[in-house]
Amino acid sequence: MSKSILITGATGNLGQAVVKKFYFAGFHIIGIDRERAIMGGYEVYPADLNDEARVEELIQAIFEETYPPQAAILLVGGYAPGDLLATDASSMQKMIQLNFDTANNIVQALLPHFEAQGGGHFVFIGSKAVLEPNAALYNVAYALSKSLLFQLAEVINVYGKGKNIRATVVVPSTIDTPPNRAAMPDADFSKWTTAEAIADNIHFLFTDSGQHLRGTVLKVYNES
Ligand SMILES: NC(=O)c1ccc[n+]([C@@H]2O[C@H](COP(=O)([O-])OP(=O)(O)OC[C@H]3O[C@@H](n4cnc5c(N)ncnc54)[C@H](OP(=O)(O)O)[C@@H]3O)[C@@H](O)[C@H]2O)c1
Repeated sequence: MSKSILITGATGNLGQAVVKKFYFAGFHIIGIDRERAIMGGYEVYPADLNDEARVEELIQAIFEETYPPQAAILLVGGYAPGDLLATDASSMQKMIQLNFDTANNIVQALLPHFEAQGGGHFVFIGSKAVLEPNAALYNVAYALSKSLLFQLAEVINVYGKGKNIRATVVVPSTIDTPPNRAAMPDADFSKWTTAEAIADNIHFLFTDSGQHLRGTVLKVYNES
C-alpha cells in the first residue's frame, strides 16, 4: 500500500465526502473523529483533538501499527456567529480551540514523522471570511480563528521547503450540507459548493500535476 492519508473530522458532512473520494481513489484511509466509526471498511479512530496527549499517543500508534500517512487533511472545525462587539476573550478562545488547536495539535504530532519519512502534506480548511472582511462582520471570532490556519500554512511552507513538506489551504464558501439547508431554507442552494466538489479539488492536490502546487490557497466558492 503506497498511498496513506489521515483525515480528521472524517464522519462530518465534508469528511464523509472526502473519505469516499480518497477511498475510491485507492488510498488507505486513517480517519479520526470524536467517536469511533467504520467507514468504507476503514476504522475512524476516536480522539478529542483538543487533548494534546491523546493526539500524540494516537499519532504514535498510527505510525507503529498501520500505514504511515503521507498527508493529513484536517477538516475538524466549526462556526459560531458573533459581531465585533461580541468578540470577547471567551468567544475567541472557543473558536481558536475548535478551528486552530484541533489542526495544530495534529501538525505538532505529525511534523516530526513527516520529517523522518522525507515529506508530508497538510491540508487545512479555511474560510472565505478570512479573505473577505465583509463576510467576517457577523462571525468575527470564527474568521480570526480560521486566519491562524492561513498563517500556519505559510510558516509550514517556509519551514518545509527543501524537505518535501508543504501545506495547502482549501477555502470553501457555504457548503451544501443538511445543517446549512436547515439554517438557511430560503437560500439558493445551487450557488453553494458541494462537499463532493471540495473533495474532488482536494484530491487534485494529490495527483501528479497537483503535487507541483506549493503555497496554494484553493478557493472553492462556486457562485456564493
Ligand atoms: N459547512 C460549511 O458551510 C463550511 C464553510 C466553510 C468552511 N467549513 C469548514 O469545513 C470543515 C468541515 O465542516 P463540516 O460542515 O463538515 O463540519 P461538521 O459536519 O461539523 O464535521 C466536523 C466534525 O469534526 C468533529 N469534531 C469537532 N470537534 C472535534 C474535536 N475536538 N475532536 C475531534 N473531532 C471533533 C465533529 O464531531 P462533533 O459533531 O461530535 O463535534 C464532526 O464530526 C470545518 O473546518 C468547517 O469550519 C465549513
